[in-house]
Amino acid sequence: MNVLITGATSGIGKQLAMDYAKAGHHVVACGRNKEALQALEQEFPDTIAGQQLDITHADETLQNLRPYTDLDVVILSAGVCEYVDIDHFEADMFARVFNVNVVGTMRCVEALLPNLKAGSKLVIVGSTARLLPFTKAEAYGGSKAAIHYITRSLQVDLAPRGIKVLSVSPGFVETPMTSQNDFEMPMQVTPEFASASIRKGIEKNTLDITFPRTFGWFLKFSSRLPQSWQVALSRRFSK
Ligand SMILES: NC(=O)c1ccc[n+]([C@@H]2O[C@H](COP(=O)([O-])OP(=O)(O)OC[C@H]3O[C@@H](n4cnc5c(N)ncnc54)[C@H](OP(=O)(O)O)[C@@H]3O)[C@@H](O)[C@H]2O)c1
Repeated sequence: MNVLITGATSGIGKQLAMDYAKAGHHVVACGRNKEALQALEQEFPDTIAGQQLDITHADETLQNLRPYTDLDVVILSAGVCEYVDIDHFEADMFARVFNVNVVGTMRCVEALLPNLKAGSKLVIVGSTARLLPFTKAEAYGGSKAAIHYITRSLQVDLAPRGIKVLSVSPGFVETPMTSQNDFEMPMQVTPEFASASIRKGIEKNTLDITFPRTFGWFLKFSSRLPQSWQVALSRRFSK
């Protein structure tokens, strides 16, 4: 298979790139960090090709991604997380987070969509943060709720073309992104676990790849509670 992965220089995306490469698939690994891309190419000279890319740059994204025409799986994992400081509320922070997680991800879709054919899979990484109104997560959770909705609409609009669109909602994964968190992260999993869950979901065409399973079930159940209960629950998490 030919697999293109954004966010492949770190965390979940990097683990996916290495695991697909180890299984003999050809991987285009995308990210801004040139050294990280070179390190991947050196470790997997026959199976990984690096593509330096900032997905917030429109022309760069279009010009660099459009030439990849023969792709079986596209995994859009690039993302950033910033938390709200309620005493210093900053709208620009929302712009930064949405510009990568939502607009940047759509720039990748814009560049690659004409190249996807029947049987291709488009996999978009969101978060279980979309399921509850977590403390300080107005920007991050909001961007992930938006990307989940967009992914579901794409599932509808790309079905007639035979393109499978899969939504990924990870719980806490041990990566550089979560190393900044100073709170407890229940049921945190390793990047290896995350990669295995995502690859299995892709293989089975699971439209909603949520893991770890128990954490996902708990949050999905909680998201159906009355809103006042959800606020009370999230207040407990914020202590
Ligand atoms: N870790 C978790 O607990 C968790 C939970 C739920 C969802 N997620 C989601 O999973 C995805 C991967 O997260 P992670 O934990 O693996 O994070 P990570 O280790 O911080 O990796 C983030 C990746 O995104 C890339 N990226 C960021 N801004 C970019 C930009 N402007 N252009 C191109 N690439 C950019 C980074 O590459 P460069 O710096 O090289 O550009 C890096 O490869 C994200 O979408 C995240 O929201 C993570």
